[in-house]
Amino acid sequence: MIVVPGSSNGPLAYRVARATGSRVAKVEYRRFPDGEKYVRLLDDVKGEDVVFLQSAVFSPDEYLVETLLAVDSMKEDARSVTVVLSYFPYARQDERFKPGEAVSLVTVSKLIRSVGTDHLVTVDVHRHRVLDMRSLVGIPYVDASAMPSLARYAVDTGLVDRGNMAVIGPDAEAEQWAALAARELGVDHASLVKNRLGDREVKVKVTRDVDVRGKDVLLVDDIISTGGTIREAAKLLSELGARKIVVGATHALLVENALAKILEDGVEEVFSSDTVPNPTTRVSAAPAIADGLRSLGLIG
Ligand code: R5P
Repeated sequence: MIVVPGSSNGPLAYRVARATGSRVAKVEYRRFPDGEKYVRLLDDVKGEDVVFLQSAVFSPDEYLVETLLAVDSMKEDARSVTVVLSYFPYARQDERFKPGEAVSLVTVSKLIRSVGTDHLVTVDVHRHRVLDMRSLVGIPYVDASAMPSLARYAVDTGLVDRGNMAVIGPDAEAEQWAALAARELGVDHASLVKNRLGDREVKVKVTRDVDVRGKDVLLVDDIISTGGTIREAAKLLSELGARKIVVGATHALLVENALAKILEDGVEEVFSSDTVPNPTTRVSAAPAIADGLRSLGLIG
């Protein structure tokens, strides 16, 4: 197997190569003077199982086009091409909320398939309303999770006391992430309920008994973007008597000074994975991605 790094996240590509005992291919990316993207693979991938890794965040259009160009070209020689979208772009618009809206998750899934991608691996992909990603993607697919590693990090570094803690998801959709983290630690979990009022504004409430009084809370989510969700959830958990709140997220985008705002609100620590390299990155998603590649039969 050979790993081809997209231009978005070279370090994670190298870590995946190390975790799978693979080589890393050399590839040239540049722009033509008119702004169009140029992609050239400098290593031979004839007969190889190729893994192309891209965290398509912050410049999603650019990374998406790069991915399509690279995969389409490599398909001519490779035995198989697996795309690892460690950050799956355009996943949050997964439904037509207003008439005429483009449903970008569906379109991007079609594009990835259209260039002949043999397998797709994502990491904690945003799936709120589309629960059956496998049918949507339409090719062999695995969603790897960084949640168990994030949970272990919180306990191993003493951020939370495993004997007196709860894992909480800030909204109903985060129940799945809280469950994964809690199962790893053998502790309780619950989720809050969120109502999104706009791109930056949310309201979070409790609709059933959530017992966090006097406990350490590990608040988990797939994405932190503006931090609105985490800040509202953390405020509510403080009101409910949490002793300490730490936040673990797979993809910490932390736009618009989100980290400072979250810490100012009294959250003790924020940590995240390397799918989106950022100042809070503490754990790598590489072992989970390697497990995903293993379950697709690409490595022994
Ligand atoms: C979607 O709802 C996700 O699971 C996150 O909760 C959301 O993307 C976070 O966005 P923000 O940090 O802007 O509230």
